[in-house]
Amino acid sequence: MSQFVGAIDQGTTSTRFMVFDHGGNEIARHQLEHEQILPQAGWVEHNPTEIWERTRAVIETTLTKAKLSAADLAAVGVTNQRETTVVWNRRTGRPYCNAIVWQDTRTDKIAADLERAGHGDTIRRKAGLPPATYFSGGKLRWILDNVPGVAEDAERGEALFGTTDTWLIWNLTGGIDGGAHLTDPTNASRTMLMDLETLDWDQELLSIFGIPRAMLPDIVPSSNPGLFGTTLANGPFHGEVPLAGVLGDQQAATVGQVCFRPGEAKNTYGTGNFLLLNTGEEVVRSKHGLLTTVAYQFGDQKPVYALEGSIAVTGSAVQWLRDQLGIISGASQSESLAAQVQDNGGVYFVPAFSGLFAPYWRSDARGVIVGLSRYSTNAHLARATLESVCYQTRDVVAAMQADSGVELDVLRVDGGVTANELCMQIQADFLGVPVSRPVVAETTALGAAYAAGLAVGFWRSTDELEQNWQEDKRWEPTLGEQDRERGYARWKKAVERTLDWIDLDE
Ligand SMILES: Nc1ncnc2c1ncn2[C@@H]1O[C@H](COP(=O)(O)OP(=O)(O)OP(=O)(O)O)[C@@H](O)[C@H]1O
Ligand SMILES: [Mg+2]
Repeated sequence: MSQFVGAIDQGTTSTRFMVFDHGGNEIARHQLEHEQILPQAGWVEHNPTEIWERTRAVIETTLTKAKLSAADLAAVGVTNQRETTVVWNRRTGRPYCNAIVWQDTRTDKIAADLERAGHGDTIRRKAGLPPATYFSGGKLRWILDNVPGVAEDAERGEALFGTTDTWLIWNLTGGIDGGAHLTDPTNASRTMLMDLETLDWDQELLSIFGIPRAMLPDIVPSSNPGLFGTTLANGPFHGEVPLAGVLGDQQAATVGQVCFRPGEAKNTYGTGNFLLLNTGEEVVRSKHGLLTTVAYQFGDQKPVYALEGSIAVTGSAVQWLRDQLGIISGASQSESLAAQVQDNGGVYFVPAFSGLFAPYWRSDARGVIVGLSRYSTNAHLARATLESVCYQTRDVVAAMQADSGVELDVLRVDGGVTANELCMQIQADFLGVPVSRPVVAETTALGAAYAAGLAVGFWRSTDELEQNWQEDKRWEPTLGEQDRERGYARWKKAVERTLDWIDLDE
């Protein structure tokens, strides 16, 4: 039997391919970034063709480096940046335009109009989401309205929609020669078009958005042995491997963190932050600004749901210090720079670059830096940036506790920012609960591998996966309650300063 499982992780900033063994240990990986295309303020695009090329390259390089072939892989899973919208032509295989990325805010008017027309409650009730620029449905509407030829081709079933999982699977399984046009419920639950209860596209929602059913992929369980198809001998694997698992990246991290029981939660710190709480087979509706989403659906079992707190900008605020301000030369330098000062010196930074997501959902917000004085330095700004990651998390944790009644006793974390020890200490201090990071920090790829491996019997059960989880490091809170609450009250004031900045009717 093949000894390993592979995972394609198509992220917002990069694409990686990783190989894991039965113990969930990393055997090999390769990773390549792709271009962030920023044509104007608020717009964020990716080139789907570049993403497919990068995907092929990381698979081939990983297999070559590790001297592995398709026969060594029992299955491959796919995980992906969610919501990012690709539309391409079934006959030519070519995208009609760049992908519109989840952070893109060009659809703010579409989202506001949905609310004004009274559709907000229907979307919240059926899809579990508030109308917002974040989700795919509005992005797809924008493409149908603005890119010549798409609307006509869509009616004829010639223009296909997909998030990047769907785009890659279609290409991996043959593309214009009969590629499979599929997605899973976790990705579909981010479109505003799927009914959370039926796990199928909903006719009423499709009518609200004016989206032809013919352009949508079929929704199949996140983990299944046959439905996603098989990689091709002439593709990057140079052989046939079952594609057996698909999960949106945050749901994959939830699986990688083995949060299989109701009440278990993880927080991933990447481009943005995403806290997911497993709510079991129950669809829990948030009253405090969280999303209801599908956590996973394994085989013919019932779907498992989650409450989600999505934060648009966390790690990408660190990238902004590096790329736009140039005050650090690499992400890890944010730690040494911030460590030069004992506190934030009164500076608060709310990076509402894409408006504010959970728990506020304000597309009229934009970023602010407040509390500046002649005393403020780069170091204070770096510190305020790390604090913004942790305060935004506190906002979401507070909403999660209010919605679920579940008191957090420890926060399980993962993702690139968790390499920042100072940031993790600040997080424990701001929450007043310990923060715990596992040995395998690449939980996103691991979760996709788990979904695929479970489908083909490489792993027999989720119990087996739970035994693979091991703690690497834990941070205990040290800050007194008074200091904690005083800082948080200031943060809330800073958040208020971001609101009502963009006039959506302009
Ligand atoms: N030492 C560090 N301190 C602070 N931030 C860091 C550090 N190292 C990496 N980051 C941030 O982490 C992010 C990358 O994390 P990660 O690799 O988990 O994201 P990603 O999975 O690539 O994101 P995506 O999937 O959205 O592409 C970047 O935004 C980067 O700025
Ligand atoms: Mg990622």
